[in-house]
Amino acid sequence: MNTVNYLRISLVDRCNFRCSYCMPTGEAITYLHRSEILSYEELLFLVGEVFLPLGIDRFRLTGGEPLLRRGVVGFVRALVGLPGVADVSLSTNAYLLEELAEDLYAAGLRRVNISLDSLDPGVFARITGRDHWHKVWAGIQVAHRVGFDPLKLNIVVLPGINEQEVPALAALTLDRLWHVRFIEFMPIGNTGYFEQAGWVDSEALRRRIRERFGLAEGTCYGNGPADVFQIPGAKGTVGFISQMSECFCSRCNRVRLAADGFLRPCLLNEADQIDLKTPLRAGAGAAQLRELVSELLLRKPEINFRERDRGTTGSYGRTMSQIGG
Ligand code: GTP
Ligand code: 5AD
Ligand code: SF4
Repeated sequence: MNTVNYLRISLVDRCNFRCSYCMPTGEAITYLHRSEILSYEELLFLVGEVFLPLGIDRFRLTGGEPLLRRGVVGFVRALVGLPGVADVSLSTNAYLLEELAEDLYAAGLRRVNISLDSLDPGVFARITGRDHWHKVWAGIQVAHRVGFDPLKLNIVVLPGINEQEVPALAALTLDRLWHVRFIEFMPIGNTGYFEQAGWVDSEALRRRIRERFGLAEGTCYGNGPADVFQIPGAKGTVGFISQMSECFCSRCNRVRLAADGFLRPCLLNEADQIDLKTPLRAGAGAAQLRELVSELLLRKPEINFRERDRGTTGSYGRTMSQIGG
């Protein structure tokens, strides 16, 4: 059984982008009321008194877009400062990084994963629903200058839309210490679009990159499911997250906490999520909450998404943007 040592914390369910693979098209999304969202104090209590004592010492802040939440820099500082915290990272669309990268670094954050689905501003706007490529690119440059390392760029590969940019995106790693990761499009978030668009196998992408530049095994610091390669002589690495063509559930090391305090054992299992906010606000002590989380962790191997579930399109109350990837 794999040890769970990684928690993805969704700080907010809202996002300022509308990525086609992440959000349902044309459907109204209901957002949480401020009072439903765990406060920073509640989150720090859960991390310090519940998750750390259970051996979960790696944390990723996600959203929606986590940088939209007011006070995020102060929260990062407090989280990084908790004794026993081994790793803190952030997944962002980089829209606000130009303004916040320096403060986040000063607060102790050392690594970020950024969505950058295209190098073409027009294609970027088509995918994200926002004409913000230049601002995102500026945010990435500031993050690079400030010193975030590893700096990872996530690309969800969409057939016929950004697929042809794979070699150019991989080439970003040649003279920059950036880690580009190609993600197979998953049927979660926008299943209607998934059925229409389809997905591209990582092995096909590797073949294309290998033919053009060559490709060897590589290494990159992280806690996630990426298979890491490197173009010979490149500064950075090229990673592949292949949840469609390869089942990595047996090495799954993470659970996910939604902004409203629901703890989900697996990205693709909503039915077994547990509510931590209600007992927390009703005055449950740390020991009682640890008990609830331990029970979920014990059940996790049985309730993880499995090989036999592959190819099925689940139905979820939450969009990918609300889960945080
Ligand atoms: P590090 O390796 O620690 O940098 O983190 P990461 O790769 O887990 O973080 P990131 O937020 O960049 O995640 C990248 C993508 O990997 C996610 O958006 C998902 O598409 C995919 N992914 C991450 N975790 C899981 C998982 O548990 N199950 C599945 N099916 N996909 C996942
Ligand atoms: N399939 C694969 N990856 C997705 N992401 C969002 N929706 C999907 C999906 N349907 C990724 C984004 C971001 C990360 C947090 O989640 O690209 O990098
Ligand atoms: Fe795009 Fe991330 Fe926002 Fe989803 S949460 S719409 S992937 S920026």
